[in-house]
Amino acid sequence: MSSNSPDERSLVLIKPDAVRRGLVGEVLSRFERKGLRIDAMVHRTMDAALADAHYAEHVDKAFYPPLKDFMTGGPLVALVLSGDEVIDVVRGLVGATDGRKAAAGTIRGDLSLSNRENLVHASDSPDSAKREIALWFPELG
Ligand code: CMP
Repeated sequence: MSSNSPDERSLVLIKPDAVRRGLVGEVLSRFERKGLRIDAMVHRTMDAALADAHYAEHVDKAFYPPLKDFMTGGPLVALVLSGDEVIDVVRGLVGATDGRKAAAGTIRGDLSLSNRENLVHASDSPDSAKREIALWFPELG
């Protein structure tokens, strides 16, 4: 898939802190207003096995146990977005990992004060997107 393919897809999680804080509509509206398409969406609670698979690259890190507790601690909204260069576009809208350092105007910069409870996960590369979409929405494979 070329980098400017209109069919590029990204896996996005609107995390449990966003659901708890009533920010699902706010986050979704930013993606919609940008012109991205929602190809799939589900309200779901992550279990331990899915957390370990989704965050496979982080399972050995010191921050993983509290991250896992947070991510499995309540419902989230998983979605697949598509659009031109959607992976980079979504990462720009979401902002830097640490909400305290993320630029104003981004989702995390405007709405999060945490490095862990940072409201949104978004795929960071085409390979990650493919792997994550297969985990969350195998029917799209
Ligand atoms: P996410 O984009 O879902 O990818 C990995 C997640 O781990 C990240 O967002 C944060 O929620 C969390 N994270 C990354 N680094 C740290 C850290 N240093 N301390 C706590 N949580 C972190």
